[in-house]
Amino acid sequence: MNILVTAGPTREALDPVRFLSNRSSGRMGYAIAAAAAQAGHAVRLISGPVALETPAGVERIDVVSAQAMADAVQAHVTWCEALVMAAAVADWRPATVSPAKLKKHAGTLTLELERTPDILASVQPLKGARIYVGFAAETGDPEAEARRKLAAKGLDLIVANDVSRPDAGFEVATNAVMLIDSDGSLRQIETAPKAEIASELVTWIEARAKQA
Ligand code: C5P
Repeated sequence: MNILVTAGPTREALDPVRFLSNRSSGRMGYAIAAAAAQAGHAVRLISGPVALETPAGVERIDVVSAQAMADAVQAHVTWCEALVMAAAVADWRPATVSPAKLKKHAGTLTLELERTPDILASVQPLKGARIYVGFAAETGDPEAEARRKLAAKGLDLIVANDVSRPDAGFEVATNAVMLIDSDGSLRQIETAPKAEIASELVTWIEARAKQA
């Protein structure tokens, strides 16, 4: 299969030296790209800025901002049979980007933020028989929130994790997730290395592709 994976954070510039971003390390998405390539699939990885090596056999496309990631996904999605959106895309960006470094001054500074494009929503018209997998990083009730996102974003599967746990989510090598299928079924994977969760996910994608 041709599998398109996104990973890592995005950076939203405020000025030439400052940006807004998040704690995503890219590890989960990179583990998925590696597992998919190891299983013999053709893999393209659209990556935000991370400190990770490109997995063997993976074609990597580097981007910085949410808009650039949206453009790259749009450009590559028709190539793929499965899209895995593991990236932690920034939800807001500064409404204006200063061309010069903002000068420090006394008192407070108010930033105006605007929404970034919703990438999964933007590629929904291209879905057809493609398999779309999303992620939901939650700190509240991960199952309820993930089920809502699965339906709202028209996904085949959502991988939900509770990022408030110390052994799951951002910046750690392990994760504990729930795989929630559009058929309603839920599978819990207890704390495991991200590589193991990644290969379970690839197995799920292969099985779903066979059903089509
Ligand atoms: O941010 P949220 O929890 O809604 O993200 C759920 C899914 O949507 C993730 O798979 C993420 O990669 C994707 N996403 C997106 N475009 C955004 C924000 C998130 O496609 N602007």
